[in-house]
Amino acid sequence: MEKTFLMVKPDGVKRGLIGEIISRFEKKGYTLNRLELLTPSVEVAQSHYAEHKEKPFFGELVEFLTSGPVVAMEWEGENIVAVSRLMIGKTNPLDAQPGTIRGDLASTMSQNVIHGSDSVESAERELSLWFATEASHV
Ligand code: TYD
Ligand code: MG
Repeated sequence: MEKTFLMVKPDGVKRGLIGEIISRFEKKGYTLNRLELLTPSVEVAQSHYAEHKEKPFFGELVEFLTSGPVVAMEWEGENIVAVSRLMIGKTNPLDAQPGTIRGDLASTMSQNVIHGSDSVESAERELSLWFATEASHV
């Protein structure tokens, strides 16, 4: 079964949106396999967003992601990579449709409450980055 990496970003945690966000994926019928609340290190944040390292917003992006706790999660379900991206909505708030997570809950480009892997390859890379070992606490 397909897996993806979903993360409630620091703004979503601070605003009390963890339950609302998890609930949407539960109601959709997907399975939550792993979940961890943690404040990311600069190294993990930079590696997570490595594709954007030359972009002008990279510094602020890493600063934002490391500004407080996030909820890192592994979810599983049929076509979950593509469908979760539809549920999340577009990056730019001008394009994020009502009914999507960002369309309903976010109003800025930089602080947009949730991350979701954009391909099966990205999901594999991100899951091994955030969940480095089989069980990080044992
Ligand atoms: P990106 O991977 O393009 O978006 P998505 O999160 O939808 O996959 O960008 C990663 C994050 O970088 C995005 O969620 C918010 C931030 N960002 C900016 O702050 N400014 C920008 O112009 C873009 C494109 C992204
Ligand atoms: Mg992306």
